[in-house]
Amino acid sequence: MNIKPMVRNNICLNTNPQGCAVNVKKQIDYVRKNLSPAISSPKLALIIGGSGGYGLASRICAAFGYGAVTVGVSWENEPSEKRMGTPGFYNNETFNKEAENAGLTAVSINGDAFANETKTKTVDAVRQAAKQAGIPAKIDLIVYSLASPARTDPKTNIKHISVIKPIGCVFSGKTINVMDGTFSDVSVESATEEEMFDTVKVMGGEDWELWMDTLDNEELLWQQTRTIAYSYIGPESSWAIYKNGTLGRAKEDLERFCRQINSKFTTQKKIDGAWVSVNKALVTRASAVIPTIPLYISCLFKVMKEKGLHEGCIEQITRLYRDRLYPAGGQVPVDSENRIRIDDWEMREDVQKAVTEKIKIVTQENVFTETDFEGFKQDFLEVHGFEPRINT
Ligand SMILES: NC(=O)c1ccc[n+]([C@@H]2O[C@H](COP(=O)([O-])OP(=O)(O)OC[C@H]3O[C@@H](n4cnc5c(N)ncnc54)[C@H](O)[C@@H]3O)[C@@H](O)[C@H]2O)c1
Repeated sequence: MNIKPMVRNNICLNTNPQGCAVNVKKQIDYVRKNLSPAISSPKLALIIGGSGGYGLASRICAAFGYGAVTVGVSWENEPSEKRMGTPGFYNNETFNKEAENAGLTAVSINGDAFANETKTKTVDAVRQAAKQAGIPAKIDLIVYSLASPARTDPKTNIKHISVIKPIGCVFSGKTINVMDGTFSDVSVESATEEEMFDTVKVMGGEDWELWMDTLDNEELLWQQTRTIAYSYIGPESSWAIYKNGTLGRAKEDLERFCRQINSKFTTQKKIDGAWVSVNKALVTRASAVIPTIPLYISCLFKVMKEKGLHEGCIEQITRLYRDRLYPAGGQVPVDSENRIRIDDWEMREDVQKAVTEKIKIVTQENVFTETDFEGFKQDFLEVHGFEPRINT
């Protein structure tokens, strides 16, 4: 099958199913070689947002590294006569097939994770999967890895749309066209109060807590349950658009809900703990549309590859599980804000210094030599199954 990628404004509109299958299998191979069950590793894992990026890597690590029964929730377009499915649809297909071949129990649910109906379906799926595998219906690991443009609040039925905007200032910067490497200037107006509120509603922590409440009411939690949600902080040069912008506001809310989940469930010994993990900037469907992030990632990849520190989603999550969430000593290492930091290599002083230098000198003329634009483009295409080696 020779399908060409259709990309508009750094958004890829189509998918190569064959390439998606190759990507999932590559990640499975990596995990089989680099992660093995530990004493405390999970036997039953629920991954919310498990069809792409960090969530898919989290599911692959739990299943193929630890041998866990996995239930994955995601919202992907199935293929129809008129259009192809979204990458996550094909990723799920391959994951399910590979899990079956490996004798692992896996159930994938396609539905809106914010909706009560999907939560109810998931509860049934967890019970059914546990029964099929002959283990107790108690979830050891809940990964909350949604990146969504919108959310309908089940209580009010109001649809909230998230935006990527600065707060209290106009953001101006450079971004790169993912297909040809051309630069353009972007300028983004400050978010309105309503836009801030809406973004927090979509990407904040309210729905994470609703999931925990549902699972608690259904007695699917126990004292070994660990739950984790993903965040990003990044370098100061991106703070105007990220950390101090609408998305950063939503991530602060996620951390607030993490504390709330801990005081509600962990202190009562209903679960073992909840954490926010700060991860590295990577190319996923969600990240390529954030202004300046493509340029930053191209510079970051160049520096981290030169220093032998580069990681993709699967390497990040393997390290997260092995060295942070399920380490040999049992204790989860955290920063002063109780966050897990797996962005430690990205944020290393020497890495950030070199990236800052690069950003200063990069121009349209030297972008292909001074940055790893090709690596960024390759990863972007690969997320949609268009890894060049497969597509030709
Ligand atoms: N990509 C990065 O550089 C990066 C860095 C640090 C943290 N993060 C965080 O990691 C998390 C995952 O991001 P990603 O980049 O892996 O995203 P992604 O786009 O690759 O995956 C998002 C997942 O969410 C699912 N999803 C979206 N809306 C849904 C809905 N309504 N119902 C059910 N499923 C839904 C999708 O199906 C998919 O499985 C986000 O919280 C993001 O902020 C990302």
